[in-house]
Amino acid sequence: MSVRSRRRLDERPVLITGGAGFVATNVAHRILSAGRPVILFDNLSRAGVEQNLQWLQDTHGRNVKVQLGDVRDGDALHEVVREAGQVYHFAAQVAVTTSLVDPFLDFEVNARGTLNLLEAVRACDDPPSVLFTSTNKVYGDLEDIGLEKSATRYEPADPALRRDGVSEGRCLEFHSPYGCSKGVAEQYVLDYSRTFGLRTVVFRMSCIYGPHQFGTEDQGWVAHFLIAAIKGQPLTLYGDGLQVRDILFVEDLAEAMLLAQAQIDGLAGEAFNIGGGPANTTSLVELLDLMGELMGERPLAHVEPWRPADQRYYVSDTRKFQRATGWRPRTSVREGVSRLHAWLLETQGAQRMVAAGRVAS
Ligand SMILES: NC(=O)c1ccc[n+]([C@@H]2O[C@H](COP(=O)([O-])OP(=O)(O)OC[C@H]3O[C@@H](n4cnc5c(N)ncnc54)[C@H](O)[C@@H]3O)[C@@H](O)[C@H]2O)c1
Repeated sequence: MSVRSRRRLDERPVLITGGAGFVATNVAHRILSAGRPVILFDNLSRAGVEQNLQWLQDTHGRNVKVQLGDVRDGDALHEVVREAGQVYHFAAQVAVTTSLVDPFLDFEVNARGTLNLLEAVRACDDPPSVLFTSTNKVYGDLEDIGLEKSATRYEPADPALRRDGVSEGRCLEFHSPYGCSKGVAEQYVLDYSRTFGLRTVVFRMSCIYGPHQFGTEDQGWVAHFLIAAIKGQPLTLYGDGLQVRDILFVEDLAEAMLLAQAQIDGLAGEAFNIGGGPANTTSLVELLDLMGELMGERPLAHVEPWRPADQRYYVSDTRKFQRATGWRPRTSVREGVSRLHAWLLETQGAQRMVAAGRVAS
């Protein structure tokens, strides 16, 4: 890409599809804080996300342009992509559970929507770079990993896996319609770099958590646990609660995303596992213990059978991205969960808790 083209792209706004969502709001906040305008493209299908748009507009004013639209509408994407210097493609059907109920919707939004976006980018004279958010579900249920069980968690028997986590060298095995639609989408994203020379990069993400997340039982479990506990609602653990995830605080993710876009010429065509890594893991029951410490009372939880595509153990090996960019997560599980808890109390929960008599003064 010529210096002139690069300069032209740097002068344009950043397009974020799914721009009202949780990850988008945090990434947009970073970009806007550095003075660059953003275009937020979203169909507002996720309950609650209009609050994120309002917050971004209140905080950053005229630099926030909102474009209501659907990624299934290729023409609408062509319109906004033409204006963009960079693209973060986050718009998605995000829940495995919904994908089981309506696989066509899941496919249309995740697979077809991503192809619509790539075609819009390919049609540009100076195509913007694209960062796509995929998922650890493209590695399947990882049933072959030998696990040992302790009182609070599963751990791999293999010391190397325990130390480093799951790398990008792992075979792809799409599980669940969501895993398939995201897996298809990420393969298109990578192939459009290979075949058409677009500057695209894929993040295969494990669990992300932090402020501006409207977590539900179907997606965003750390926020969901906290929200339910604040409301005094009982929690459901699917499986035995010993399943382990690496969790990544959203500010650390935003940092990684900005780095990836800044260094796109060296990273294009690559997929990276992104998560908290082995230093930032928790099982479900360990999270409940931590919440008990933070809230003064361990939340109640009852147990239901495992759900399809539930992994007993997934921890990202993030060393490929670390070697390429120097990035590493900085926020510990304890600090991140405390910060999310504080944000939820401040923005959502305080009144309800006072009303329910759960907080003294
Ligand atoms: N949060 C995580 O833990 C996690 C983990 C792995 C991958 N991801 C991926 O990261 C991306 C962002 O996730 P998030 O947690 O911010 O989700 P989110 O649900 O908060 O954000 C997604 C946004 O996309 C919008 N959207 C949905 N369908 C759309 C459509 N057809 N057209 C336009 N907009 C549409 C929603 O209204 C929402 O605002 C998603 O692609 C998700 O699959 C997230």
